[in-house]
Amino acid sequence: MENKAIVLSGIRPTGNLHLGNYFGAVKNFVKLQDEFTCYFFIADYHMLTTHPKPENLQGNVRQVIIEYLAAGLDPEKATIYLQSDVPETTELYLFLNMNAYKGELERVTTFKEKARKQPDNINAGLLTYPTLMAADILIHKSHLVPVGKDQEQHLEMTRTFARRFNRMYKVDYFPIPRAFNFDDELVKIPGLDGSGKMGKSEGEGNAIFLGEDPKTIHKKVMRAVTDSGPTEKNQEKSEPIQNLFTLMGVVSDPETVQYFDDQYNNCTIRYGDLKKQLAEDIIKFTEPFRERIKELAADKAYIDKVIEMGAEKARASAVPTVRGVREIIGFRKIY
Ligand code: TYM
Repeated sequence: MENKAIVLSGIRPTGNLHLGNYFGAVKNFVKLQDEFTCYFFIADYHMLTTHPKPENLQGNVRQVIIEYLAAGLDPEKATIYLQSDVPETTELYLFLNMNAYKGELERVTTFKEKARKQPDNINAGLLTYPTLMAADILIHKSHLVPVGKDQEQHLEMTRTFARRFNRMYKVDYFPIPRAFNFDDELVKIPGLDGSGKMGKSEGEGNAIFLGEDPKTIHKKVMRAVTDSGPTEKNQEKSEPIQNLFTLMGVVSDPETVQYFDDQYNNCTIRYGDLKKQLAEDIIKFTEPFRERIKELAADKAYIDKVIEMGAEKARASAVPTVRGVREIIGFRKIY
């Protein structure tokens, strides 16, 4: 059999997928599944760092599976699974934690941000989030990890941990994986609140979801932050305006973007028109997702089958990896 590159990526079950998740990650997943051996999972262990209620966790996990499938992932081509269905991941996580240092973990940007956001819950899982992520990636000896720009630092840490393991035990066991995007650069989709990235926890109205109804999309886009308009020709765009153009760049025709760009540059632009067009194009773009999400949500048995099938395939790949690690470290063979 030919030796295909192994691709892995995951998404936390925070609820519905938004356009950032789609353009930063899932769109690449769909393309990659035709060419490579792919593993795509729901990071439900990671979710525990924020202490979700069991009923919310379960519902959100299923919703992400539904939305993965609605976006075009095919369980016959890719292995789609729940992180918690592969408990071998936690054994690898433990081994990797033995060689992960407090100082380097404390310097991770996402840890610092989370610690600021949830000062009463700075748990050990939050600190070791990057080692669990490294375990997810290394458990399948993955080569490519399609992620958005915000995950770049985590990927760098996985590379460090993989190299460290290989060096420590003088083996060439783990491939050194890399973050991947089809267009060289990793993507960062902005939100509608004028700054930063689109994200679920960035506040109401910042994110647009793949399954969102047209009325809400329209309302959210029309409320997006703008500025008072250009006063000079070819003026540099402020961040909120650049963000709207970036969003337009991924959902609209190039001619439409050009049209509004020209209007901006000669100071005739009306932001209301720009937003109306953007809302229309997002609604058009998300149309097929909305329909598929509805269909799939109604087919409980099928979703159960996909989860079962994924668990089996993912474990078949994970067990030999951990078996090898146990042998290298010097533990007894138990599986
Ligand atoms: P999460 O759930 O925050 O995001 C899932 C994926 O969506 C991408 N993404 C974005 N891309 C571009 N623009 C945005 N505004 C945007 N928002 C989110 C993320 O980069 C990511 O690719 N730690 C991971 C989950 C994870 C994982 C892994 C990923 C756990 N283990 C192993 C890869 C490999 C996370 O929280 O992603």
